[in-house]
Amino acid sequence: KQPLKILYLLLSASFSHTEKEDCLHRGDLEDAQLFKNGDIMLGGVFSFHSSWRNIQENYEQKPQQLQCTSLNFRDFQFAQAMLFAIEEINNSTELLPGITLGYKMYDACGFIARSVKVALALLNGNEIKASSSKACTRPAEVQVIMGETSSSPSAAIATAVGPFRIPMISHFSTCACLSDKTKYPSFLRTIPSDYYQSRALAHLVKHFGWTWIGAVRSNDDYGNNGMATFSETANQLGICLEYSVSFFRTDPPNKIQRVIETIKTSTSNVVVAFLSHMDLDVLLHEFSKNNLTGYQWVGTEGWMFDSQIAAMDTDQILDGAIGLSIPKAHVNGLREFMFNVKPLNSSNSDLFTKLWEELFSCKFNQSHSGKNKKECTGEENVSEVKNSFTDMSLMPIFYNVYKGVYAVAHALHGILNCNTTCEKNVHLDPSTILQQIQRIHFKTKEGDEVYFNEKGDPPAKYDIINWQRGENGMLNFAVVGLYDASLPADKQLNVNISSIIWSKNMLQVPVSVCSEKCPPGTQKVLQKGRPICCFDCIRCAEGEISDSMDSVTCVRCPLESWSNENRNACVKKNIEFLSFKEIMGGLLTGASLCGACMTVIVAVIFVKYRKTPLVRANNSELSFLLLFSLKLCFLCSLTFIGQPSEWSCMLRHTAFGITFVLCISCVLGKTIVVLMAFKATIPGRNVMKWFGPIQQRLSVLGFTLVQVIICIIWLSNSPPFPSKNFKEFNDKIILECSLGSAVGFWAVLGYIGFLAMLCFMCAFLARKLPDNFNEAKFITFSMLIFCAVWITFIPAYVSSPGKFSVAVEIFAILASSFGLLICIFFPKCYVIVMKPEKNTKRNMIGKGATNNF
Ligand SMILES: *[C@@H]1O[C@H](CO)[C@@H](O)[C@H](O)[C@H]1NC(C)=O
Ligand SMILES: *[C@@H]1O[C@H](CO)[C@@H](O)[C@H](O)[C@H]1NC(C)=O
Ligand SMILES: *[C@@H]1O[C@H](CO)[C@@H](O)[C@H](O)[C@H]1NC(C)=O
Ligand SMILES: *[C@@H]1O[C@H](CO)[C@@H](O)[C@H](O)[C@H]1NC(C)=O
Ligand SMILES: *[C@@H]1O[C@H](CO)[C@@H](O)[C@H](O)[C@H]1NC(C)=O
Ligand SMILES: *[C@@H]1O[C@H](CO)[C@@H](O)[C@H](O)[C@H]1NC(C)=O
Ligand SMILES: *[C@@H]1O[C@H](CO)[C@@H](O)[C@H](O)[C@H]1NC(C)=O
Ligand SMILES: *[C@@H]1O[C@H](CO)[C@@H](O)[C@H](O)[C@H]1NC(C)=O
Repeated sequence: KQPLKILYLLLSASFSHTEKEDCLHRGDLEDAQLFKNGDIMLGGVFSFHSSWRNIQENYEQKPQQLQCTSLNFRDFQFAQAMLFAIEEINNSTELLPGITLGYKMYDACGFIARSVKVALALLNGNEIKASSSKACTRPAEVQVIMGETSSSPSAAIATAVGPFRIPMISHFSTCACLSDKTKYPSFLRTIPSDYYQSRALAHLVKHFGWTWIGAVRSNDDYGNNGMATFSETANQLGICLEYSVSFFRTDPPNKIQRVIETIKTSTSNVVVAFLSHMDLDVLLHEFSKNNLTGYQWVGTEGWMFDSQIAAMDTDQILDGAIGLSIPKAHVNGLREFMFNVKPLNSSNSDLFTKLWEELFSCKFNQSHSGKNKKECTGEENVSEVKNSFTDMSLMPIFYNVYKGVYAVAHALHGILNCNTTCEKNVHLDPSTILQQIQRIHFKTKEGDEVYFNEKGDPPAKYDIINWQRGENGMLNFAVVGLYDASLPADKQLNVNISSIIWSKNMLQVPVSVCSEKCPPGTQKVLQKGRPICCFDCIRCAEGEISDSMDSVTCVRCPLESWSNENRNACVKKNIEFLSFKEIMGGLLTGASLCGACMTVIVAVIFVKYRKTPLVRANNSELSFLLLFSLKLCFLCSLTFIGQPSEWSCMLRHTAFGITFVLCISCVLGKTIVVLMAFKATIPGRNVMKWFGPIQQRLSVLGFTLVQVIICIIWLSNSPPFPSKNFKEFNDKIILECSLGSAVGFWAVLGYIGFLAMLCFMCAFLARKLPDNFNEAKFITFSMLIFCAVWITFIPAYVSSPGKFSVAVEIFAILASSFGLLICIFFPKCYVIVMKPEKNTKRNMIGKGATNNF
């Protein structure tokens, strides 16, 4: 018996294809909610219910049918819009003459699995059993699917129908993901992609200067994809997201609570809500309970022009919201058509009964449910009720449905070669229809052009609307700007800020930043471990500035300028030099002029008393030369004061070097004369012969000539020149004479020092000798002062900053000159003027003799 049974099984298996076996439908049948026959059938998938009951499957029995809840009037409206368009085309004698369009619409409840199931039902028909093989292979029941409303079910349907190239046109699925033609080859839509909306929102947020924002999104393709594009763009624009939470309407209450906690504990004032109206509906109730007011909401077209949400917002939570919406539209006759509910009463009267009861808040068959509601008569008038079914604020979306149906009709018109009549026996192939729709370009009766780009998207245009509460307490969607993605980047966003009323009825733009802008004079320093919008403003360092708001770095001022007190501008550095006008310069000038005058007075006294023994005895020729050179010494200090120029720099050190050498060589001459005079008194040695007036002059000339040569070498090799010293001080420039060659300078000084030391030694040797009026003693003393001054000068000169080094040099010149003048000439003048009785030849010699012997 066994082999026979196996043979039978094999036979039945091999013949089952050729044998005229019945086709069986898998799974439960789905009845179309709305149905009307026609020559060409259009499919529709809508969410007449917006939610469903979550059922735990136990996998022990067959899964229950999906239980849809919450009747959704909006999708009834979309269905009505589709019916309206079909009827208008049916009535038209120009478009598809003689062809009637039929329709078949299903309720997907917004549930993804169900959307796929009804999409397959649309394609394959819905009989339990097709009794002939011909029936199993007939072309698809519907040629085109209109819908779905939300992105996620649309994506699911598009995935299912894509491989068969069945065109699908959505009116409200904005997810940018649906533009991916490798995944959804047959998907088209009459609403712009969120790719544009997300970017538009980011630019809008940036436009108002909000860089620290929060975000709430629907946890589906619409919210997640939209938010992803938004954050990417926001990131590029320097906007930081403090938080981004997701939410779906079927989420448990603790999830809602977490969303509310996140918003409440945040520091940002602006919340971007990438939500569908169904999700916001649930959230808004909870926001009201938790007094979540005072936030500035930024919305998407998913809820921005939804008057039902606006009507629910009695706690004024969303007042002042700003966001995008599809531009306003109007379809003639649609409103009147919609108010006639009867066409919706089709095969599935159960759904229609529910709609009717919900619409008019009444009940058929009151008998077994309580008498809390009024009895339905079936004669109620829609114009007399006010609810979201009679609300026409979604007209732009109805218009999208309408445009979609017309696009299909125009495509069919072309395929069927319609002129006055259409060719009825053309074989309709979905992929031909799809290609035809993609190429379509026509004008609606309202004058709008309809076409799709290569991604199946229409051109992107948005109104920017603002929720303003009128005096009557009603929310009003004021259009405050436009966004047009087809314009160049800088002209896309166009907002009239002055016409916006913000949250809390404010007229100023709310502020939402993590850190205030950095004023000029400071630089941004990011806070460690926080987003880039959070930073500290650090004052620029000295010599650095930042001149704009929010600068990232401070820039160094150019060499000749320096930062001002506020660190926001570079100011020219002060140029500093020892001038005649300032106190120190004035004092030094006074001192030098005073010294010169004193020298002149002394010279006058000497000239007047030149016949007296004291003057005569004192080697008057050298004395006058000394006085002359002292005068030059005093005057040469003046060349150090004033703005250094090329000439004054060269003059300074050379004049000083030469006059000082002249001066000291005179003193040296005097000392040598004293020394010689004493030696000359020793018999047998006529030294005096060797150092007469001629030799004195020659030696003075010789000593000075050496200095002149040093100076000439210095000047011809690398002369001193005026230079700007930036190093000494940051905030000022020292204008000084650069030495040119340091060797030259120190050679000049060194030579003076050498002569001074020589002079000092000679004078020291001669200090006890009986000269005229103890001159050697005074010379010793003056040389002591001279050397002391110049030895202290060197360290002081090297360590003094800027113009003080010049002052020190002048001081040294003056001090040593005064030392010479006072020590050598004042005692003599005192005797000449005050004690003329001592000014006798005897006294000279006598005194000299007693002192020395
Ligand atoms: C289309 O018009 C024909 C008559 O012109 C009518 O019988 C048919 O019911 C109409 N169909 C629709 C969907 O309105
Ligand atoms: C279609 O034509 C019928 C009969 O003329 C009319 O009652 C109906 O309003 C028309 N429908 C539309 C959408 O124009
Ligand atoms: C909201 O505010 C009302 C009145 O201002 C107060 O009674 C209620 O407790 C508040 N609710 C919350 C959750 O703070
Ligand atoms: C819907 O149509 C059926 C017949 O198709 C009718 O019996 C029923 O009364 C209609 N319902 C309403 C509310 O008009
Ligand atoms: C009303 O109830 C009766 C029986 O109680 C039922 O036969 C009828 O179909 C119901 N009508 C509606 C519209 O539900
Ligand atoms: C419904 O009411 C409006 C005004 O309230 C009236 O114009 C219209 O004729 C009514 N329609 C029906 C079918 O009673
Ligand atoms: C439509 O038909 C008319 C007459 O039947 C003819 O003159 C006209 O050229 C046709 N138009 C097209 C586009 O075929
Ligand atoms: C902006 O809005 C204000 C107030 O509504 C209006 O007075 C002004 O004309 C508008 N400006 C533009 C350019 O539309």
